[in-house]
Amino acid sequence: MGHPRAHAAGTSAAEHMDAIYRYQRYIYDATRKYYLLGRDRLLAELQPPPAGSVLEIACGTGRNLILAARRYPNARFYGFDISNAMLDAARAAIARNGLTDRISVAAGDAAEFSGDRLFGAPAFDRVVISYALSMIPPWRTALQRAMDAVAAGGRLHVVDFGEQERLPRVFKSGLRSWLARFSVEPRAALEAELAALALRSGMQLRCEHLYRGYATYAVLEKPREPVSGPSAT
Ligand SMILES: C[S@@+](CC[C@H](N)C(=O)[O-])C[C@H]1O[C@@H](n2cnc3c(N)ncnc32)[C@H](O)[C@@H]1O
Repeated sequence: MGHPRAHAAGTSAAEHMDAIYRYQRYIYDATRKYYLLGRDRLLAELQPPPAGSVLEIACGTGRNLILAARRYPNARFYGFDISNAMLDAARAAIARNGLTDRISVAAGDAAEFSGDRLFGAPAFDRVVISYALSMIPPWRTALQRAMDAVAAGGRLHVVDFGEQERLPRVFKSGLRSWLARFSVEPRAALEAELAALALRSGMQLRCEHLYRGYATYAVLEKPREPVSGPSAT
C-alpha cells in the first residue's frame, strides 16, 4: 500500500492538485462563482476585529482573500495552498489588486501546516476553509489543525458542499459525478465532525444548510479562556 498522502499513479497531493488546476485556474473564478455557493455569506460574516488577522486554508486563486481584504481594510490576511499553480494565480491577482502589502500567501498542506512557520503567526482571529475539505483526503486532520490555529476568542468559518438533501435526486447524482472528475468528494460526516470538534474544544457551533442543502456553512467560536476537558488535571 502507498503512502496515505499519495494519489493515483504515485503522485503527491500537491502534484495531483497542480494537475487539476494547471488550466482550470484560468477559468476558475469566472466559473466557480456559479457553484461554490455560500462564500459571500461567509465573507460578510467574517468581521475580523480591528487590526485582526485572517487565515484562509487552501486559498486557491485568492478570490476570497482579495474580497475580504477590500471589505475589511484594517485586517491583515494570510493564505496558503498546496498547489503552486493556484498560488501563482493568487499572487498575480493580489498584485493586480494592489494588495501585496496586506495579503501574504505561501505553499502549505492543510493536514500539517504551522502558521508560525509559514507566516510567523501561531494563531489567527479568523480562520477560513472554503470548498477545500471536500478535496482533502485527511479532511478531519485538516479541520483539527484549522481549529488549533484559531486564537482564543476567534472563529473558524467553514463552507463546503452539503448533502443536497432537499434537491432532486437526479441533480445530486449528476453533481456528484461531475465533482468526482475534479477529485471533489462532499463530506457526508462534515456536520457530525464539526459537532465532535466543538464538543472536544468547548466551542460554540452554528451550522446551517444553505440552498436546500447544496452547501453546509458552519461557524465555530473558540472561548476566550481555555476550557478544561475531562482529561485535564
Ligand atoms: C475548490 S478550491 C477552493 C479555493 C478557495 N478556497 C475558494 O473558495 O475559492 C480547493 C483548493 O484546495 C487546495 N487544496 C487541496 N488539497 C489541499 C491541501 N492538502 N492543503 C492545502 N490546499 C489544498 C487546492 O489546491 C485548491 O486550490
